[in-house]
Amino acid sequence: MIKAIRGMRDILPPETSRWQWVESVAREVFDLYGYQEIRLPLLERTELFARSIGEETDIVAKEMYTFPDRKGDSLTLRPEATASVLRAVLENRLEKGAGVKKFYTLGPMFRYERPQKGRFRQFWQINCEAYGVEAPELDVEVILLLMHILKRLLPGELRLLVNSLGCPACQMKFRAALGLFLINREGLCEDCQRRRTTNPLRVLDCKSANCQGILHNAPVIRDYLCPDCAAHFARVLELLNRFNVAYELKPRLVRGLDYYTRTAFEVAAVGLGAQDAVAGGGRYNGLAKALGGPDLPAIGFAIGEDRLLELLPQDFGQDLRPRIFVAALGEPARERAFTLVQELRRKDLAAEMDFEGRSLKAQMSMADRLGAAYAVIVGDKELEAGAAQVRPMRNFASPASAAANQEAVEGERPPVAQEKVRFEALVDYLTGKVRSEENL
Ligand code: HAM
Repeated sequence: MIKAIRGMRDILPPETSRWQWVESVAREVFDLYGYQEIRLPLLERTELFARSIGEETDIVAKEMYTFPDRKGDSLTLRPEATASVLRAVLENRLEKGAGVKKFYTLGPMFRYERPQKGRFRQFWQINCEAYGVEAPELDVEVILLLMHILKRLLPGELRLLVNSLGCPACQMKFRAALGLFLINREGLCEDCQRRRTTNPLRVLDCKSANCQGILHNAPVIRDYLCPDCAAHFARVLELLNRFNVAYELKPRLVRGLDYYTRTAFEVAAVGLGAQDAVAGGGRYNGLAKALGGPDLPAIGFAIGEDRLLELLPQDFGQDLRPRIFVAALGEPARERAFTLVQELRRKDLAAEMDFEGRSLKAQMSMADRLGAAYAVIVGDKELEAGAAQVRPMRNFASPASAAANQEAVEGERPPVAQEKVRFEALVDYLTGKVRSEENL
């Protein structure tokens, strides 16, 4: 049997309904803050990522799925969305006009990393990008938006980590100081021995414990911020305080991508183990220009959807829609049931039936497995009397009673209030029942 590629997985029902729920909450909050969706290709020219994320980053140096297409052009499966969103914005002139331009995009990203808990080679991100405004108020609004989505979804503790990476002038001074600090240090990994001259900031992001130990007394960028960058960061922190957003200052937070300037942040979640970053982002004011575009201030974040899902309670987003199961006994009853199911669906009620002539007991088990709210029973007797039996299966508004119902199926079924409803009144009767329960 052919299996899925290592690090790439199928997301299957009923898990998919949890994903849909997360995405619908994210869309709702994006809409609240005025963001519009943008959908992008998964493939881009390799150059786009190499130039924006940076040649010395792990992502570009080791983790991209890059291949020549049939004409020999080098293409890459996107390892992240920021570069693609910006490419699309510039190509379609979406940055034009006054005010903040706000976009979000959802979808899979690809990085050839070593798979482990919370780390995949195809993973999903919920991305947010805002353009055109340099004010620190936008930084705070973007962080508030991120926390809004996460808090709507996650019951557990979140840690917001923040730092400022300064502007290119601050980074140049800091890079020189850090390079000097690293120049004679022994014990750096092979990559960092190279990076200390090519791009010393990347050493701060190295995953090796040895390198992290050596960095203990290294200079921190906060001490190299120019007055403008320091004032911008102070204002961001002041506003976070004003809105009671708890944060931790992380002077060594640089993030794994080269494009960041000024505010950078990550959200770590308690309970995720080693891969505890559930989201990350920051400003990238220089990227549009580096890609041949105009001067365009920019800021954004990405939430790791796979990790977010890991943190959600199992019953979160379960399908609570009341379903109707029509159980039919005998060929004439099945004919009647088939019509009834179509009539119910035409009224936007979710309805199912069995096509294979199973026993009543087997059909009621099917109804239970589907989590049906009502079973409609039709047999010869009902056809003759002109009325079907309607049996409430569970109180779907309470998941606890769904579990109790499950126990009842396995053990003794308690007596249920079954009603006879005439066939011509059945669709209206069920519509009324379902709608009133939906409004509970
Ligand atoms: P990033 O920190 O590389 O940032 O990724 C953002 C989030 O994606 C991480 O915090 C993590 O939750 C998730 N993630 C990353 N790699 C994996 C993986 N291999 N498996 C599972 N989840 C993963 C960016 O990608 C930037 N583009 C964010 C950004 C947007 N900055 C500005 N705008």
